[in-house]
Amino acid sequence: MQTVTELVMLRKAVATLRADGSTVALVPTMGALHEGHLTLMREAARQADRVVASIFVNPKQFGENEDLDAYPRQLARDSALLEEEGVALLWAPLVDEVYPEGFATNVSVGKFSEHLCGADRPGHFDGVATVVCKLFNQVAPDMAFFGEKDWQQLAVIRRMARDLDLMLPRAGAIYGVPIVREPDGLAMSSRNAYLSAEQRADAAALPATLRKAAELVAEGHPWSAIASAAREDLLESGFERVDYLDLRDSDSLKALDSDNGNARLFVAARIGGTRLIDNLPIRAA
Ligand code: PAJ
Repeated sequence: MQTVTELVMLRKAVATLRADGSTVALVPTMGALHEGHLTLMREAARQADRVVASIFVNPKQFGENEDLDAYPRQLARDSALLEEEGVALLWAPLVDEVYPEGFATNVSVGKFSEHLCGADRPGHFDGVATVVCKLFNQVAPDMAFFGEKDWQQLAVIRRMARDLDLMLPRAGAIYGVPIVREPDGLAMSSRNAYLSAEQRADAAALPATLRKAAELVAEGHPWSAIASAAREDLLESGFERVDYLDLRDSDSLKALDSDNGNARLFVAARIGGTRLIDNLPIRAA
């Protein structure tokens, strides 16, 4: 696997990968790789001839009081994992390479960015959209892979790609990969590393509460009653705050009060100061 940190080198390396007519998939990450990320690499390798991974802890998507400085950085370990997965090229730029002096542009995807995580993290999705737009332009992939764990992020990126005619040649070229979970159901996340052993055990209440709520929605119970009981459950299980717990349409992300056949639960809650997110379709309940 080749690692490049400068844009001119990246462009040359991608051109070399493409020289024999190979297709190229991009898998953007912020590193601290876990099985969820590696599943994205494997899925990308199934669909494309060559996989390009990026590791960039994007300062623009972190709020002022968020964990930018504490975010785990472990490039040597991550490189070894990507190498084992057969990734062809790692794009690992420094902040100045991505946001040089004078950088002024912002990509904002309107209403998709305003609710759910957007309400609690103002500017977060502008930061995500801006960096992913740049990554698409830098790598110019045939397709890109994102996890359904960050369902709203996937929706924002798909909307942006359609709206800005980003170079991905096929409408379905932005792939969503199902959430990879720990044996107790907790969605894998680089932020799980912040949890103490006790918090980590308590955090399993997040997917369990979602599953129970999804079953009740599927049975036709009113959402308002389910939502308040589920919030209570989370607070009793050790979460100190529930940022949101919403039933929404999977595609439009519009709020619902009952299943419309395409409904999904979305949750963000804090445990020991760590903010965890999850989502679950009602259909699977
Ligand atoms: P990061 O949190 O590193 O995640 C990189 C990709 O891995 C995202 O598409 C995310 O949805 C996916 N992912 C993380 N945990 C997963 C899990 N348990 N199961 C399936 N997929 C999972 O998301 C970002 O980075 C950034 O916002 C980024 C898109 C790279 C832009 O900076």
